[in-house]
This record gives sequence, C-alpha cells and structure tokens, in this order.
Amino acid sequence: MRLKGRTAVITGAGSGIGRASAALFAREGAFVAMVDRDGAGLQDTVAAIRRANGEGSVHVGDVGDADFANSVVTEIVTRHGRLDVLMTAAGFSCGGTVLTTDPADWDAVFRTNVGGTWLWSRAAVPQMKLQRSGSIITLASQLAIAGGRGNSAYIAAKGAIISLTRTMALDFSDNGIRVNAIAPGAIDTPMLRRSFARHADPDPVREASRNRHAMKRFGNAEEVAEAALHLASDASSFTTGTVMVVDGGWLVA
Ligand SMILES: NC(=O)c1ccc[n+]([C@@H]2O[C@H](COP(=O)([O-])OP(=O)(O)OC[C@H]3O[C@@H](n4cnc5c(N)ncnc54)[C@H](O)[C@@H]3O)[C@@H](O)[C@H]2O)c1
Repeated sequence: MRLKGRTAVITGAGSGIGRASAALFAREGAFVAMVDRDGAGLQDTVAAIRRANGEGSVHVGDVGDADFANSVVTEIVTRHGRLDVLMTAAGFSCGGTVLTTDPADWDAVFRTNVGGTWLWSRAAVPQMKLQRSGSIITLASQLAIAGGRGNSAYIAAKGAIISLTRTMALDFSDNGIRVNAIAPGAIDTPMLRRSFARHADPDPVREASRNRHAMKRFGNAEEVAEAALHLASDASSFTTGTVMVVDGGWLVA
C-alpha cells in the first residue's frame, strides 16, 4: 500500500477525478477527508471508498469559504495528528469568451478554481511545515498550456493555478513540502459532459474534442487518479513545481 497511515484531504471528492482519487488513495491505505458542496455526490464516494475497504470522512461546503477550509483541516489534524496530502480537485467552468462571460461567472470560476487552491493550501501548509513533509496536488488543465476556445475564465484560472503551484513549490521547498499540478486532457466526467451540453449541437463538438487527442479518446478519471497517487506518494519524492500532463497526447498532436 503506497499511502498506508497517511491522511489526505481531497476537494471536489463528490464526483469525477476527485472521487476516483479518493477511492484510489483509500485503497492504498490513506484516511481520506472528502470535501465537496454536493453532499449526495459525497455519499456515492463514501460507497466507493467502502468497496475499497477504505476509511474517510465527509465535509460538505464551498471550497471558496476560508472558514470552511480552516475548520476541516483543524478537525482532521486534531483527529489524526497529521496531514500528508492535499488534493484540490474542486473546479468548474462556465464557458464563454471574454465578450460573453458574465462578470459574476468570472468571479465564481476564479473563487472555486483559484480560491479553492489557495485557501486549502493556506489551511494545510502550517501543519505540513510542522511535520516537515507534505504533498499538495493541484488541478490545472492542458488548456492552460495549449489555449482553447470559448472558455476564457476557466482557462485563465487554470493558468493561475499553474503559476500558484510553482510559486508554492518554491516558497515551501525548504519545509519538506512538494507542490505539483496535474494537467489533464479531456476526461469523461460530469464536468466534461456539461461543457458539451452547453453547445446547441453537442455531437460534433464532442467528436472534435475526442479526435483532438493523439490517442483519439477521452481519458477516464481513474487514469488521472493514478497520476495523483504518484504525486501523493513517496514515489515522487524528488518531484516538485512540475505540471504532470495526463492528456492522451493533446499537447503533441
Ligand atoms: N474533466 C475534464 O476534462 C478536466 C480536464 C482538465 C481539468 N479538469 C479539472 O479537474 C478537476 C475535477 O474535474 P472533474 O472533471 O472531476 O469535474 P466534476 O464536475 O466531475 O467534479 C468536480 C467536483 O467539484 C465540486 N465543486 C465545484 N465547485 C465547488 C465549490 N465551490 N465547493 C465545493 N465543491 C465544488 C463539484 O460539486 C463536483 O463534485 C477540476 O478542477 C477540473 O477543472 C477536468
């Protein structure tokens, strides 16, 4: 077991990549604190963890709320005496160019994606500093590197997450804390399905996206979870400040 005795907090654990990572981390021996605003989604993740004979706790709230972040981390540290892994997978996109994005949607995308990365790192780092160890895994996107059409707030937010990841890796490298981003390609999750559904005619958009990958398919959440497990575990002990691309060859195609 690659995370035996470790404690992890995963935001966005109620669906998709966060859920698959929670199940995999639990199967690998970690206690997983699962965070999401979708309480019903979290219950499905709990069922997945139980099937993996794993252990975890459920925390329902908005990742953009600083008090929520602090209270969850305090609860976990009080209970377990440590926090080894933080994975910030909560995210969403609204679609739109800079002309068609509503300012409130722009703010909401930044609050969840960038704020949710910042505030949870801010809550977790003091304990990781005390331990002199920890792994923070953020969620970027291949689109932050390649660019993409019609999703300006989301892509700008993911670019900010890459910059924040590198900055935190430098700020805390002397404290034994590693910070890395994952940049997935298009992964078959509810978020991806919602993004296609925004189009008047989704089918050709879905096919173009699928074929944009060198591998001519979408990824699945479990494939991203495996990358997260690598970054969470000691297998990546010399890796910090990187962007691990898991994109089926999107960037090279
Ligand atoms: N699916 C993809 O193609 C893809 C590609 C690149 C990056 N990503 C990133 O991976 C991460 C996970 O995406 P996914 O595809 O699994 O999406 P998903 O929609 O399946 O899951 C995201 C989860 O985040 C939760 N969430 C959203 N906003 C929240 C908030 N303010 N507070 C608490 N919880 C909140 C949702 O309730 C949901 O359970 C996201 O950061 C996303 O941007 C996804």
